[in-house]
Amino acid sequence: MSVLIAASLLSADFSSLATDVAKVERGGADLLHLDVMDGHFVPNITIGPAVTAALGKVTQLPLDCHLMIEEPDRYIADFAKAGAEMITVHVEVLPHLHRTLQVIREHGIKAGVALNPSTPLSTLREILPEVDHVLVMSVNPGFGGQKLIPSVLPKIRRLRERIVELGLDTRIEIDGGVTLDNLDDVAATGVDIIVAGSAVFGADPRSATREIVRRLAELAEHAEGR
Ligand code: DX5
Ligand code: ZN
Repeated sequence: MSVLIAASLLSADFSSLATDVAKVERGGADLLHLDVMDGHFVPNITIGPAVTAALGKVTQLPLDCHLMIEEPDRYIADFAKAGAEMITVHVEVLPHLHRTLQVIREHGIKAGVALNPSTPLSTLREILPEVDHVLVMSVNPGFGGQKLIPSVLPKIRRLRERIVELGLDTRIEIDGGVTLDNLDDVAATGVDIIVAGSAVFGADPRSATREIVRRLAELAEHAEGR
């Protein structure tokens, strides 16, 4: 299966979101990654269900909602109504994670769990079979444009091994600091979805997305020919 690109709107031009979304869509992005922040779990405040719903009207891309908020349970129904296809919640804020994931799935939405860089994989031991995707943070959440923390790459490899061992089809998403410079190393870990924010919106979004898609296709071709 080829690696998917989720364009993160955090680094887009907020005064012309629809235009920027159209650019990454034309560039070949597979998903639109929406970073929801509440000023509590992370210092930053960004978008909520209203903007999510508005974006859903201007794009065909599935909405991948990453909730960096303290009480995600309160907002799941709102994001479902807004058209989310994937909802990811942080393990660090959820004492009743199993229930939260169940509620997300009851809405017909793919349920994911996010781990901060310092959160160990062992927090997933009991829950992994219930999870559609694991989002591994490769920067500390809150801001775009940070540098990828290298120790996250072996963490992803270990997670991939565990998923294979258990015979699951859980997808792995990496979020933060991915650029064309580290793309080969990131892809080699066995991730399924790569989030790219500043790498896409820091340049011309359409051609930057194209370039990432092109390189991933090249890597997949090499892997197959091996
Ligand atoms: C950070 C967000 C990321 C961010 C990634 O808290 O979760 O999705 O937008 O941006 P880059 O790719 O610039 O690190
Ligand atoms: Zn994110």
